[in-house]
Amino acid sequence: MNKVTAAITAVGKYVPDYVLTNKELETMVETNDEWITSRTGIKERRILKDEGKGTSYLAIKSAENLIEKSNLDPKEIELVILCTATPDMQAASTGAYVATEIGAVNAFSFDLESACSSFLYGLSVAAAYIESGRYKKILLIGADKNSSMIDYTDRATCIIFGDGAGAVLVEPTDDGNGLQDEFMRTDGSGREFLNVAAGGSVMPATEETVRERLHFARQDGQTVFKNAVFNMADVCEKILVRNDLKNEEVDWLAAHQANKRIVEATARRMDLDASKVMLNIQNYGNTTSATLPLLLADYEKQLKKGDNVIFAAFGGGFSWGSIYFKWCYNS
Ligand code: UT7
Repeated sequence: MNKVTAAITAVGKYVPDYVLTNKELETMVETNDEWITSRTGIKERRILKDEGKGTSYLAIKSAENLIEKSNLDPKEIELVILCTATPDMQAASTGAYVATEIGAVNAFSFDLESACSSFLYGLSVAAAYIESGRYKKILLIGADKNSSMIDYTDRATCIIFGDGAGAVLVEPTDDGNGLQDEFMRTDGSGREFLNVAAGGSVMPATEETVRERLHFARQDGQTVFKNAVFNMADVCEKILVRNDLKNEEVDWLAAHQANKRIVEATARRMDLDASKVMLNIQNYGNTTSATLPLLLADYEKQLKKGDNVIFAAFGGGFSWGSIYFKWCYNS
């Protein structure tokens, strides 16, 4: 019998109905469809407009989609990990609310935050619980309502981000598929280049922080871009070498969707054919914790059992990493 590894056995997704197009952004800031498309690959993104609905709404919808598709009884779920950089509120776990709302009454739940790397790290944590034998049914969700922290007068950020959620079910397998290896890194000196300055413990909310618009996400795009390109390509290369994987043996690159050019640069470094590179940034923009599970949901029908998938992410912090995963089912 092979050793126990963590398999993904079901996938679900949800994106809000409202489509914010490049054309509409042209009426909000000084930008244009040609610039956004050529510099980022993004054509449109989804926005959760309904007042009073937060990240939990997106997460619940994606979990319900998974539950319906896979006929899962939510009472069997033992743990819900909610990966998000935009929790509903401070101090109260968003994951706890999500678990209760979906009927996962026998589960406990927590939030996991590491900016755009949240879901990748969440997969690592879920796998460790599965491999140790402690839990056997983990619902791993990546959800972000990025529009809650975007300044729609700042063209450096508002063109990039969108809202969405994706969910996967993580269970044990001994058939040799599932999570094979991971390579994770962080560098805290990067936090000044991408953050929401106010509203945390360093700079609590005051009238002045609101007036200065410090509750919105800001980034030094070029610095983040250079670090993302270098580091994502670096960890992908390292994980291939460590697992003795030739580029022709890689079936899919599932990389964080922050900018099409970053994904393409990573694929070039791995010498991968474009047909193996998952892309949906054109439809959703950067959905932070949701990009990787949204990719899996959108490519689910094309994924075959045993396919070699390389996951990669880079995000604020800085945080980044790569996971080598063998796909677990045919749909
Ligand atoms: O998930 C991790 C989080 N984020 C990222 O990974 C994002 C990483 N960074 C990026 O994707 C890119 O840096 C951006 C898309 C944010 C910006 O693209 P860029 O190619 O790095 O543009 P830039 O900042 O170097 O700006 C080039 C020019 C500038 O004009 P000048 O100075 O050359 O005249 C900008 O003012 O483009 C201008 N510009 C724009 N023009 C039209 C910047 N934003 C826009 C815009 N529309 N939205």
